[in-house]
Amino acid sequence: MALQKRAWAEPFKIKMVEPLRMTTPPQRQQAMEEAGFNTFLLKSDDVYIDLLTDSGTSAMSDVQWAGMMLGDEAYAGSRNYYHLEEAMQRFYGYRYLVPTHQGRGAEHLLSSILIKPGDTVPGNMYFTTTRAHQERAGGTFVDIIVDEAHDPTDERPFKGNVDLNKLEALIAKVGAKRIPYVSVAVTVNMAGGQPVSMQNLKELRALTRKHGIRVILDATRAVENAWFIKQREKGYADKPVAEILKELCSYTDGCTMSGKKDLLVNIGGFLALNEWDVFEEARNLVVLFEGLHTYGGLAGRDMEAMARGMEEAVQEAHIHARIGQVEYVGEKLHALGVPIVRPVGGHAVFLDAKRFLPHLGQLEFPAQTLAAELYLEGGVRAMERGIVSAGRDAKTGQHHVPKLELVRLTFPRRVYTQAHCDVTVESVYEVFQRRKAVRGLKMTYEPKYLRFFQARFERL
Ligand code: F0G
Repeated sequence: MALQKRAWAEPFKIKMVEPLRMTTPPQRQQAMEEAGFNTFLLKSDDVYIDLLTDSGTSAMSDVQWAGMMLGDEAYAGSRNYYHLEEAMQRFYGYRYLVPTHQGRGAEHLLSSILIKPGDTVPGNMYFTTTRAHQERAGGTFVDIIVDEAHDPTDERPFKGNVDLNKLEALIAKVGAKRIPYVSVAVTVNMAGGQPVSMQNLKELRALTRKHGIRVILDATRAVENAWFIKQREKGYADKPVAEILKELCSYTDGCTMSGKKDLLVNIGGFLALNEWDVFEEARNLVVLFEGLHTYGGLAGRDMEAMARGMEEAVQEAHIHARIGQVEYVGEKLHALGVPIVRPVGGHAVFLDAKRFLPHLGQLEFPAQTLAAELYLEGGVRAMERGIVSAGRDAKTGQHHVPKLELVRLTFPRRVYTQAHCDVTVESVYEVFQRRKAVRGLKMTYEPKYLRFFQARFERL
């Protein structure tokens, strides 16, 4: 048999290593109980393979680390700010930049400037912090993602798309004046890292222009989205990812960014805008909440690392390897019959906890349970993305009951090896084989905001 070259093999070698602590099953049992069956409350020292998130957990390159030494820590007018501004304009194409300490800092500024109490903010599925800021500003989030996004077995290529009929119906109902902007995420985290097509963004632009409504992008994983467009959408196969990224942004009026994902840094984010008035207000407000408008809560070295990360993020070999690794894990699990969200998304493989643990009702927290079991099995830390993450309705106080009840195996960029991937697959499969004996959880402590971070549970 001819051996096939692995197309996504890593375009880097490892220069520095960080030792991991191995734990025994009794140690993990104790750690999980102390953490109240919430993987967010585990100590990272007790984790072997950490797939909690791809946020701030990626490995920086030597070029980025070298940039850290070139941090200009002046309070005002740091040279690294100007480098970041130039890079943002070059790769994302927006006019104005407001740095923030991370993505939610940008969401906070944007929501407080644009949303008035009683407004409606449509979006292609919610994200936890994004919706929380929209609601805090007095807005109501309305999900306008295509129906297939809620079906983990649907194989369509762009399950992050906006359903334009839903948007039109919403505009007819509440009026364009009560919609400050459409909030569009690329890729869609909570749907399983699913991409949005260029065609959909173009049509969204045409519709919103007709009604005078802004489109604000959540560009956190836009490079990953651009890669999927290159792979899946007609006419893009031969275009560089950087070019696709810029085209994608051109159909929107601004973006919020968590630099902790695509941009390969441990901390950082920004708000980017094309409208002078909105920018001016953001530049005023950032001083109150983040820091001066030329650092926004970041050190000069952080801005330098982010500017350099931006350049690395769009390298074809990098993004191919990044998504190739996630796909490798997803395809292995799929072949073993483990229920996952299809197609495999950009940053993570999402286990479908409803089908994995069909004997548990949604209020027995199947995804929370599965994430806990996975840790007990192999020291692998994943994240619940189901009813606990969905939280409660701000008005009625009832649980939001999402159709998707998922466990996210999120891959940091450039961090884990193929053997780590294999151990992860083996751990999931071990739990899968004993799934019928798994008991659910009950919530014993529930925080008021973003409860998934700190909630505690006990075994039923
Ligand atoms: N938007 C998306 C799509 C995100 O995934 C995140 C963070 C944010 C905004 C907020 O950015 O964390 O820098 O304030 N997602 C992380 C995750 C936490 O694990 O998915 P932040």
